[in-house]
Amino acid sequence: MKMKNRIAQCICIIGIISTVYNEEREWDSFVLTLTWPVTMCKFCNLVDKKCVVPAKMWEIHGLWPGYSNGDCAPRGCSISHPFKESEIMVLLDRLNKYWPNQLPDRPQYDFWKHEWEAHGRCATIVKETDTELKYFNKTLDLRLINDVSSMLSSAGISPGKSYELTMVERAVKRRTGGQPLVLCGNAENTTWISEILICMNKAFKVTDCPQSNCKPKSWRKTLPPADPCGEMVFYPESVKEIHVN
Ligand SMILES: *[C@@H]1O[C@H](CO)[C@@H](O)[C@H](O)[C@H]1NC(C)=O
Ligand SMILES: *[C@@H]1O[C@H](CO)[C@@H](O)[C@H](O)[C@H]1NC(C)=O
Repeated sequence: MKMKNRIAQCICIIGIISTVYNEEREWDSFVLTLTWPVTMCKFCNLVDKKCVVPAKMWEIHGLWPGYSNGDCAPRGCSISHPFKESEIMVLLDRLNKYWPNQLPDRPQYDFWKHEWEAHGRCATIVKETDTELKYFNKTLDLRLINDVSSMLSSAGISPGKSYELTMVERAVKRRTGGQPLVLCGNAENTTWISEILICMNKAFKVTDCPQSNCKPKSWRKTLPPADPCGEMVFYPESVKEIHVN
């Protein structure tokens, strides 16, 4: 009887392990997520977090392995690749410029460590991103190729005004060839443009972004905010435009 229980337990544990493993089935796409730092700080201010806007240009949030059918992206993946500060020190100037930590109360490397542990380690099955250094360096390259600031400004979209969401989407698609996903923060009856997601296949060719069918509970509590946008999106020029009640 005791023995049978043990066998049952073992089978159960194996069942759990294989379920977890299935959720990390091989992914097939990347999402380059770019952030408008002014919106990030607006929403940080609402929850009383210290925040800095290092420059008025679109910055990197991350490069995330995902599924082209819109399923929830894998997270965590192989713990056999611990984050090492020393490995990306050579990129420090470019990281601070294009992938800055906007929260000055956090240690300098925390943001990059988080991005590596949650997403980067999942990317090590692709040759161009199979080490920490290559993952961060490749993401910096992709940010330069996909310069959203210039895509928007050349379509006449500059900070300080509201625009139709479809106009923003078209401005990005015109240059990348793929339909982006634009995310917002909703406050004070306004949708503030927050993030622009550019989707790619594993060979880094831009594709249309899928409709996400992943709705984690924490979806609305993220910083930067990641809510669906309204028909009109506000592209704030500075945090001072924000009137907190
Ligand atoms: C980053 O990638 C570029 C190629 O895109 C390469 O020329 C450069 O040497 C790489 N930098 C480092 C530090 O590996
Ligand atoms: C939002 O809009 C509603 C309806 O138009 C209005 O009653 C409310 O005062 C507005 N709230 C803010 C914070 O502007």
